[in-house]
Amino acid sequence: MAWKIPLSDIAMGSEEDEAVRDVLQSRWLSMGPVTKEFETAFARYLGVKHAFAVSNGTAALHIAHAVFGIGAGDEVITPSLTFVATANSVLYCGARPVFADIGGVDDLNVSWEEIEGKISEKTRAITVVHYGGYACDMRPIMEIARDHDLRVVEDTAHAVGATCGGQMCGAIGDIGCFSFFANKNLATGEGGMIVTDDDLLAEKIQTMRSHGMTTLTWDRHRGHSSSYDVVDLGYNYRMCEIPSALGIVQLRRLEQNNERRRRIAARYWKALDGIEHITCPFTGRESGESSCHIFPVILSADLVRGDLQAALKERGIQTSVHYPPVHLFTYYQRLFGDTRGSLPKTEFIGEHEMTLPLYPGMTDDDVEYICTAIEEAVPG
Ligand SMILES: Cc1ncc(COP(=O)(O)O)c(C=O)c1O
Repeated sequence: MAWKIPLSDIAMGSEEDEAVRDVLQSRWLSMGPVTKEFETAFARYLGVKHAFAVSNGTAALHIAHAVFGIGAGDEVITPSLTFVATANSVLYCGARPVFADIGGVDDLNVSWEEIEGKISEKTRAITVVHYGGYACDMRPIMEIARDHDLRVVEDTAHAVGATCGGQMCGAIGDIGCFSFFANKNLATGEGGMIVTDDDLLAEKIQTMRSHGMTTLTWDRHRGHSSSYDVVDLGYNYRMCEIPSALGIVQLRRLEQNNERRRRIAARYWKALDGIEHITCPFTGRESGESSCHIFPVILSADLVRGDLQAALKERGIQTSVHYPPVHLFTYYQRLFGDTRGSLPKTEFIGEHEMTLPLYPGMTDDDVEYICTAIEEAVPG
């Protein structure tokens, strides 16, 4: 379908073309110096000691839980209002994701009070998601973690460049996990980054990313070593040079692109204000703090979401839902039984949230067009 306004679009230009061409001409494609350069630039941007590029955000989350030694019999508290990868990465380790509810219709992030209520003697970690690029309330979450000796993973897939009380999202917990999937604020097609300030964790992350091996093909190509040992069970979660080259350029564009996203979000807030049946979450926030990854709106309970989405589709506007709650998926119900009704706020959002297009290349006229289409489609 050719949308007049798609949900998201990449923001790339000739610099990305050149960066990819340079990699091809270098004749080295697998993890090597360009990936190292991307990691160094990313660590500097976040203000962290260590950054490791990985094949995608899910791999970053898997490694994060694995390096904490989380396994069978353990529990990790996490939101259900997220992409399934957050919870799946806990399952990959043989542990159980325990879902905590969100703050409410104005705050779609997991609530620290709900987290506190879910702690048991099996809890090992809290894995938060900065929904839509809006930071979770990290201060009480870090305090709870400290009080109960729990690790904190930040799923920062939406929040590259977002801040929380002046700190960069992803650099607050023990480990931060980023996704560079094609629709993300920093896009490389597939890709991710795992960051930490902890030297011991960093060592484990580095070996786990590459089959537990002590050297890379690149090290051997440079003659720095001729063999390797395998010191742990690891995976092939390496990033390669072409996405890393894209990542370096995308990182340089990030602040500017995030600022454009914030301006678009501000226009949406203004234009949607007063339209009956529609509310916008996170309105009380400092807009400068968010990476404005997506633009969610909440429809009143009497509005049929499918009808509104169909009316917008008629006008060439793509919409989406963030998210169908993880605990309601067939697979999760099969694993943990019928848990419907257990997270009422998350379930309400799962039924009544609609995501509008948001990407740096959108024009102010696009926002106007979308908001007028909504106003005409919803009953007055
Ligand atoms: C909140 C969240 N967590 C994790 C991921 C997984 O990232 P990836 O698709 O790079 O594996 C995504 C990707 O969409 C996401 O939105």
